[in-house]
Amino acid sequence: MTHPISRRRVIVLSGLGAVGVAAGVTGWIAGTAGAGPGDRLQPGDTGAELAQPLLHDSRDGRLDVALTAAAGARTAGRDTSALGYNGTSPGPTLRVRPGDELAVRLTNGLDQPTNLHTHGLRVSPQGNSDNPFVTIDPGSTFDYLYRIPPDHPAGTFWYHAHHHGTVADQTFGGLVGALLVDRGPDLPVVADRILLISDTTLDGAGRIVATGAMDRAMGRRGELVLVNGQHQPTVSATPGAAQRWRLINTCTSRVLDIRLAGHELVQVAHDGTFLPVPVARDRIVLAPGNRADVVVRPTGPGRHALTAEPAGQGGMGGMGGMGGGGMGSGDPVGGPITLATMVTEGANSASPPLPATLPAETPPAGPATAQRRIAFRMAMGGMSTGGMAFTIDGRVFDGDRDDQTITLGTTEEWTVTNTGPLAHPFHLHVWPFTVLASSDAALPIGVPQDVVLIPANGWVRLRIPFTTFPGRSVYHCHILDHEDAGMMATVNVRG
Ligand code: C2O
Ligand code: CU
Ligand code: CU
Repeated sequence: MTHPISRRRVIVLSGLGAVGVAAGVTGWIAGTAGAGPGDRLQPGDTGAELAQPLLHDSRDGRLDVALTAAAGARTAGRDTSALGYNGTSPGPTLRVRPGDELAVRLTNGLDQPTNLHTHGLRVSPQGNSDNPFVTIDPGSTFDYLYRIPPDHPAGTFWYHAHHHGTVADQTFGGLVGALLVDRGPDLPVVADRILLISDTTLDGAGRIVATGAMDRAMGRRGELVLVNGQHQPTVSATPGAAQRWRLINTCTSRVLDIRLAGHELVQVAHDGTFLPVPVARDRIVLAPGNRADVVVRPTGPGRHALTAEPAGQGGMGGMGGMGGGGMGSGDPVGGPITLATMVTEGANSASPPLPATLPAETPPAGPATAQRRIAFRMAMGGMSTGGMAFTIDGRVFDGDRDDQTITLGTTEEWTVTNTGPLAHPFHLHVWPFTVLASSDAALPIGVPQDVVLIPANGWVRLRIPFTTFPGRSVYHCHILDHEDAGMMATVNVRG
């Protein structure tokens, strides 16, 4: 299905070229010259034991942490020009408890504006809380204060840079980290690990390789896929001894279809909230931004690969059959990517079984009082994205415009459609939603979530309780190249 584009819209969209130009003026992205496919960083840590990022834990109801975003992060065992927080990518893990205050003093050591987003956290979007409209200029510092509600679900969240226009470049650069909210139940596991997955492309000198217009249009996929900033680490395991893995897809645009050879992945949580019961799966599909907490019970001794198959993200131009990791995607790997290898050895030590039920949350009941239709659409325009514009309801992002005005306390039903050949991961800040149905007939996960893939030429129907916080925030495509190109819009929840 194609949408004729009006002359007026073409004029509106033509301003988009500036995005790519602005993003290109920076010291830490290498020029395209000299950075051919043969000129790539050789990881220095392939096969090393998986390490956990440095942990900052709250005490007595508060966590105070200083983060500096800057180039020069250690990545894949090398000193690089890639970005990080406090010198590493991912940055330190922040762990808080429901009811805590999280105070982050963010210093911008980059040569362009940045800010911080606490992806999935149910906190106020106003002032110096999870406010995506904040701009922190180079060399300056901003004090964030997030008040975690006492009834906040316990689970796996993450943080990343979110300054419109450079979100893709800065997350691809490495500005990501894990954020955990901690509160039972204690699962019978011998290890509780973060596996934060990111991708980037670094040249032989450790500089970020510039992303071309076509890759921005498709959503860039980095050639180097890392777990906790490491290349293909090993995870040690004991037969029978269960481990909890918190899988976080922080890739800029890559959908991950994750499998563990010879093992089921027993999912206990999705996007930071527990499922009602553990669900055994042979694969877990995570769109950019999604998280899944899984329990792995290692079988006999041996090496088992944790892989990501190329996921169908659609192709450009409606030519069909171009899904997966091909066509200008910057993904030279046609087959599965090895994320990590589980190495099981030693005597059997059987963990007790998982509880039969988990403390899933019951979202507020009651009828939806408003229905909205939202259309994600590709159109002509947008020089930085190869002649394609990425719009919501026919418009590119304008942070000064209210696109949806909502009354605090109401629950709405949104039908989000996608008229194009690429799947778009829909993400809404602050107010999680339940998926009611979707065009690909996949079974909804059944608990609140914050990112859902809208299938190519398809739709999803969502139920969204706007019952917690008033304030303005955003919804957008979590293919962050699309978001930067304008596929983002605002919600204003009025109290
Ligand atoms: Cu993880 Cu608005 O993003
Ligand atoms: Cu978010
Ligand atoms: Cu998109």
